Amino acid sequence: MKIAVFAGDGIGPEVTTEAVRVLEALDLAGLELVEGDVGGAAFYKHGHPLPPQTLEIARASDAILFGAVGDFSCDHLERHLRPEQAILGLRKELGLFANLRPARVFAGLEDFSALKPEVAGAIDLLIVRELNGDVYFGEKGIRTLDDGRRQGWDMMSYTDAEVRRIAHVGFKAAQGRRGKLCSVDKANVLETSQVWRDTVIEVAKDYPDVALSHMYVDNAAMQLVRDPGAFDVIVTGNLFGDILSDQASMCVGSIGLLASASLNDSGFGLYEPIHGSAPDIAGQGKANPMATILSAAMLLRHSLGLEAPAARIEAAVAKALADGVRGGDLGGTASTREIGDAVLARL
Ligand code: IPM
Ligand code: MG
Repeated sequence: MKIAVFAGDGIGPEVTTEAVRVLEALDLAGLELVEGDVGGAAFYKHGHPLPPQTLEIARASDAILFGAVGDFSCDHLERHLRPEQAILGLRKELGLFANLRPARVFAGLEDFSALKPEVAGAIDLLIVRELNGDVYFGEKGIRTLDDGRRQGWDMMSYTDAEVRRIAHVGFKAAQGRRGKLCSVDKANVLETSQVWRDTVIEVAKDYPDVALSHMYVDNAAMQLVRDPGAFDVIVTGNLFGDILSDQASMCVGSIGLLASASLNDSGFGLYEPIHGSAPDIAGQGKANPMATILSAAMLLRHSLGLEAPAARIEAAVAKALADGVRGGDLGGTASTREIGDAVLARL
């Protein structure tokens, strides 16, 4: 069992260090961790945010534990050299098309949500976000029009094949949960969404046991704060999923608690907290490592088939929160290391 550890930029290394400590404490037989450079850190060292040697480490491993990428000092670089290209490149190169972003409120944290506690307490949803297509990977450019105006453009598209494979992931996830799937699109305006919706309706025929609904993304954004408990599984495209998953994190109370898995069709996966590199607090030991620790749990479950240790990690995090362990994201003072220690003590 080889796990590639790509810590990246900003708070990435701090939070990843704690997740690695938790993995090592489990003392799993045959577990090997291999580090690699990504993001701005890799750019400064190797001249590229996703150098070939990093991609090689990824390909030779069974799963990737990822921290975060993003560094303001790289904002002036051409787009293909910016830190974000590391995560986008890994998603594309490794065919990681299915992004699972679970969001639920930990007992006792209802008051940290931006929503009323009784509304927040009901949140237990999963966002299934398509990760290999959409406007993220379409042709794009900046051009000067004949009259001198500068125009940026990005091509949005989905083929029915792309929609079909993510729809299956959504339906299967719903079968394993409460049997409800909400497909989010913008079919009242976008042709991309029309193909999306038609295809999801097609695929639904294979899943008569799942209750399918459709929602426009603007309405979904509203319903997510009005009555988030009504959602079970949400399946949506790359851009809408990016936005809705950050929104869901605030409904839960902190972006420092949300883990994610990005899977290809053979079970290989990249696991990362949904928060970014947070350069403003990098290196200060202030970041909450729980999202990364929970990502490590997802890694054990989804890529290595190790349910028991995954559940152990999740229980330890829940216990630490229940015992009042709070980082700055939850109004407390516990440092990154102290939170790591608190989870380790409860393993
Ligand atoms: C995410 C992030 C990335 C995305 C960025 C870093 C490219 O926001 O994983 O949600 O937009 O997908
Ligand atoms: Mg995002």
